[in-house]
Amino acid sequence: MGKKSSVSILCFILISFSPIFVSAQQTCDEASGTFKPNSPYEKNRLLINSTLASNVTAHAGYFNGSIGVGLDRVYALGMCAPGAEPQACSHCVQAASDSLLSTCLNQTEAFVWSGDEFLCLVRYSSKSFSGVLALEPITPFYNVMDVRKENQKEFDSVLDGLVLRMITRVSSSERNNSSTSLSLSGKYYAKDVAPVPVYRNILMLMQCTPDISSKDCSLCLESSVDYYKKVYHGKRGVIMLRPSCFFRWELYNFSGAFDHINDPPPLLDSPSVNLTDITKKDKNISRGVVAAIVVVIVVIIVLISVGMFMFKRRKKKQDIQLSTEAESVQFGFKTIEAATGNFSEANKLGAGGFGEVYKGILMNGTEVAVKKHSKTAGQGEREFKNEVVVVARLQHINLVRLLGFSLQGEEKLLVYEFVPNKSLDYFLFDASKRVQLDWTVRHNIIGGISRGILYLHQDSRLKIIHRDLKASNILLDADMNPKIADFGTARIFGMNQTVGNTSRVVGTFGYMPPEYVIHGQFSMKSDVYSFGVMILEIISGKKNSSFRQMDGLVNNLVTYVWRLWENKSLPDLVDPGIKEDSNIDEVVRYIHIGLLCVQGNPADRPKMSTIQQMLTTSSISLPVPLPPGFFFGNRPGTTMSGLDPSQSSSKSYTCSVDEATITDVNPR
Ligand SMILES: *[C@@H]1O[C@H](CO)[C@@H](O)[C@H](O)[C@H]1NC(C)=O
Ligand SMILES: *[C@@H]1O[C@H](CO)[C@@H](O)[C@H](O)[C@H]1NC(C)=O
Ligand SMILES: *[C@@H]1O[C@H](CO)[C@@H](O)[C@H](O)[C@H]1NC(C)=O
Ligand SMILES: *[C@@H]1O[C@H](CO)[C@@H](O)[C@H](O)[C@H]1NC(C)=O
Ligand SMILES: *[C@@H]1O[C@H](CO)[C@@H](O)[C@H](O)[C@H]1NC(C)=O
Ligand SMILES: *[C@@H]1O[C@H](CO)[C@@H](O)[C@H](O)[C@H]1NC(C)=O
Ligand SMILES: *[C@@H]1O[C@H](CO)[C@@H](O)[C@H](O)[C@H]1NC(C)=O
Ligand SMILES: *[C@@H]1O[C@H](CO)[C@@H](O)[C@H](O)[C@H]1NC(C)=O
Repeated sequence: MGKKSSVSILCFILISFSPIFVSAQQTCDEASGTFKPNSPYEKNRLLINSTLASNVTAHAGYFNGSIGVGLDRVYALGMCAPGAEPQACSHCVQAASDSLLSTCLNQTEAFVWSGDEFLCLVRYSSKSFSGVLALEPITPFYNVMDVRKENQKEFDSVLDGLVLRMITRVSSSERNNSSTSLSLSGKYYAKDVAPVPVYRNILMLMQCTPDISSKDCSLCLESSVDYYKKVYHGKRGVIMLRPSCFFRWELYNFSGAFDHINDPPPLLDSPSVNLTDITKKDKNISRGVVAAIVVVIVVIIVLISVGMFMFKRRKKKQDIQLSTEAESVQFGFKTIEAATGNFSEANKLGAGGFGEVYKGILMNGTEVAVKKHSKTAGQGEREFKNEVVVVARLQHINLVRLLGFSLQGEEKLLVYEFVPNKSLDYFLFDASKRVQLDWTVRHNIIGGISRGILYLHQDSRLKIIHRDLKASNILLDADMNPKIADFGTARIFGMNQTVGNTSRVVGTFGYMPPEYVIHGQFSMKSDVYSFGVMILEIISGKKNSSFRQMDGLVNNLVTYVWRLWENKSLPDLVDPGIKEDSNIDEVVRYIHIGLLCVQGNPADRPKMSTIQQMLTTSSISLPVPLPPGFFFGNRPGTTMSGLDPSQSSSKSYTCSVDEATITDVNPR
């Protein structure tokens, strides 16, 4: 191999399994009142957190109950989509519950609809809510992109028909006798698809909690639909979250919810994309199978999938060539089984949406981290192997090393070097651990990451765009040296290629540059953008996504830094923990470099090699940055017809930055 054509065909395979991220929007009911820290109410709420997931699974996916007495009584509800595997259901509920507690610090009432592969709901309150319709608070989301005006009419009539059909179905559905009928959770649940010109399909999901009456269920859904029509008409997807019901439609297969629907041949995937920008490559790309998509989402997500439509003949030839090479990094399944103590619970390092990660020790004493692919991820054996060969050839001190893999029947394992110190976000975003990162360490981390990316971009034999660079994908070794991990979303470019295009966007909100979110265009400059966000996070100790409030135009770290720049107060960004021990001029220079990396126009962002020089040579003068690249989905006045924006908690997908990794594969 090594021919660029073959390389670019090979590479788009998901091999690594991003950890599961519950992409949820927690709604803390501000009107409900608050409780005091360490109060009995809080203790009861913690008890709920620790028992709800198991109670939900023990009751086939739906559980309501309460803990405590009198004013300290906490009522809770947990529910999974019908048909969810107990373990996945339990994970979903636990993660949702956990996110609720850590977001809603002292509100007596809150709820979250959450989920990756499917939907789950967690809700608690100081009042009994069983059987009571709750329409407020509502949390809406919408896709920032618009349906084309000339298609709007037709689009609306298809959508209206679908809505009507589904509301009738949901609210009249008694317990369905099919496979999912055992649980109450399936009582008011429906999903459906309607074909629509240009955009292929409208996919829609509706659910109510089973405690309310069917009349209330329709009421709830109807008012969500009305809300959408009043406020977000013309958008390419909405999500409406209310305590009693869930309404969502998209133009793509979200949350893996639509399992039994055939994907028709693609028409125009992303009509708003400037067609002149789409390279020939895109024709192949739109063939890709499955998964999460276009301008994305915050509530709920993460899909996967894989499929491979390729130039079959050519591919076959390569496979023969590659498989010999592949043997060299293949481990026996038994070897790995032994190394991980039979994948014992004690060796488990973590769980992800696509499998679990175990620590193992090989016979020769080498410590390894083993990712166990869940059986359902539909990746072909051959493709899996080929990808392994590509990634195994990457060797750099700042990249996590793939040592090999194992394939046996359905079991697919990836064997990585073991990196002892968890990930950067683990330290950076925890006040008590952040103190271990003094400026020298952070300086070294920034430098290491930049060298790792530079290697991917230009110094390795391949030209690789990572596409999901973020703090949680940076692992730290025993000496706190950074190692870039997770190449599940990486793409390999031909040596002369500079821009790629995809109709399916993968990555993590907040780390993705605008041209990628909007147009699906990625290049080395998209990684530069993500790197810039990381520099700013490393220096401030703040998550990009932690700026949720819409304070004027400041709604994330990037826009916040821009405001500081305008006010000539960049030093305000610096984490107080490193102010003392650092050379403030150097830190400010790094912030400036970070700002250059997040420029709106990719052409304004420096190349990785330039960044490398800027970081290491303080005598190089830095250009003045323009306003950073970030766009606003709900600029007051433009989308809020008739509503006072300050009254609305609406968020566009792109603005509600979350830690979700949107995982998708476009095998070409
Ligand atoms: C609840 O938390 C908010 C912010 O953390 C705080 O301002 C407020 O005083 C708290 N309320 C009570 C009653 O503790
Ligand atoms: C909720 O429970 C889980 C599992 O028991 C625990 O890991 C987590 O820390 C708890 N969350 C809070 C906020 O206490
Ligand atoms: C749980 O649900 C049942 C049936 O809807 C209801 O009768 C009961 O009061 C609920 N329990 C609590 C604690 O809300
Ligand atoms: C869940 O079940 C346990 C018993 O298994 C019970 O003690 C606990 O109170 C239940 N949780 C809730 C929220 O009712
Ligand atoms: C039961 O579920 C199946 C599959 O989801 C659906 O086709 C059927 O119409 C449902 N039946 C009723 C009575 O809702
Ligand atoms: C559904 O289940 C009920 C009770 O379990 C049964 O009486 C009924 O005949 C079933 N309906 C269908 C269509 O299978
Ligand atoms: C939607 O995603 C699921 C899970 O990834 C997959 O099984 C299903 O075939 C997809 N459906 C469509 C219409 O693409
Ligand atoms: C589309 O691309 C062409 C050429 O690159 C450019 O002239 C035009 O302004 C673009 N249109 C839009 C809407 O971006």
